[in-house]
Order: sequence, then structure tokens, then C-alpha cells
Amino acid sequence: MRLRHTVFIGLAAASLASAPLVAQENLAPAVKARHAQMNLYAFNLGTLGAMAQDKMDYDAEAATAAAGNIVKLSSLNAMAMWAPGTAAGEAEGSRALPAIWENSDDVIAKTVALNEAAVAMEAAAGEGLDSLKAAFGPLGGACGDCHKSYREPE
Ligand code: HEC
Repeated sequence: MRLRHTVFIGLAAASLASAPLVAQENLAPAVKARHAQMNLYAFNLGTLGAMAQDKMDYDAEAATAAAGNIVKLSSLNAMAMWAPGTAAGEAEGSRALPAIWENSDDVIAKTVALNEAAVAMEAAAGEGLDSLKAAFGPLGGACGDCHKSYREPE
């Protein structure tokens, strides 16, 4: 009984964990690709955020690596990931507002702003926790700034 219960909980947890992945598999490649980029942003920002909020011990090397990853990710030529016809309402799983395709200069400017904030974080992250904390606001703000304009609210 006990074993069955444990197995059931295990299966339930596994299916919960894999549900979003299964759903992702059916998405258009461009939507999948930009979700991958965004999730890599979030993973690396999460490391920095956890340190900034004192939820993870400060680690200069890990913080610098996470910031460096955001620098690299925000340097990708992502044009093909924003394929026409993949806005919210046009492509499954997409929350990308149609405004993206009408304001490409501004979208690029917001990506450049993120890249600059990440470069600043990469320089700051190894200089101590206070320095990391000071650079965190502008970095997270650069993500939010683009989401406010171009991501459909949940
Ligand atoms: C240039 C604009 C822009 C910037 C900068 C940006 N995002 Fe996004 N983000 C979007 C858009 C648009 C979507 C919705 C994409 C879609 O659903 O196709 C999105 C979606 C996401 C998602 C959901 C991904 C998924 O699997 O559905 C996460 C997480 C995310 N962003 C995190 C971040 C983080 C963290 C940063 C900063 C380090 C960031 N984003 C910077 C525009 C941006």
C-alpha cells in the first residue's frame, strides 16, 4: 500500500514535471527556440537574483559566469526566432505581441539595453555582494521593460 502510494505520487510528480515539455514539443520551431533563449535568461538571472536576495551564498565565480551567459545570450542574432506568423493568437504557445513585428528597432534597442546591463553585471558580479546587488535592478529591469511592451500578460 505504502509502496503503491509512493509510486503514484512519483508518477504524478513526473507527469506534472513533464507536462510543459510535452506541450513545448508541438510548438513551432521558432517559438521553441525563443522560449529556450528566454528560459536560459531566466536560469542565469535566477542565480544572480538568489544571491541578490540572500537566498544563495554569494559566489563571485558563479555570479560572473551567470552574467557572462546573459551577455552571450543577448548577443545572439535572434531574428529567425521571431518568424512572421508566430505572434500570440497565430502560433500555439506564443505570448509574443504583434507589436514586436511593427517595432523591430525598439525590440532591438531593448535587447541592446539588456546586453549593456548584463555587461555591467559581468563587471560588477565579481566585486562583492553589494556590487552585484546594485547591478541587479537594471538587469532585471531590462527584462521587464521588454515584457511590459511585447509579452502578452498571463
Ligand atoms: C527584447 C524583448 C525581451 C527581452 C529583453 C527579454 N524578454 Fe523574455 N520574453 C519576451 C517575449 C516577447 C516573450 C514571449 C515569447 C513567446 O511566448 O513566444 C518572452 C518570454 C519569456 C519567458 C517565458 C518563456 C516560455 O517558455 O514561455 C521567460 C521565462 C522570459 N521571457 C524571461 C526573460 C528574462 C529573465 C529576461 C532578461 C534576462 C528576458 N526574458 C528578456 C521578450 C523579451
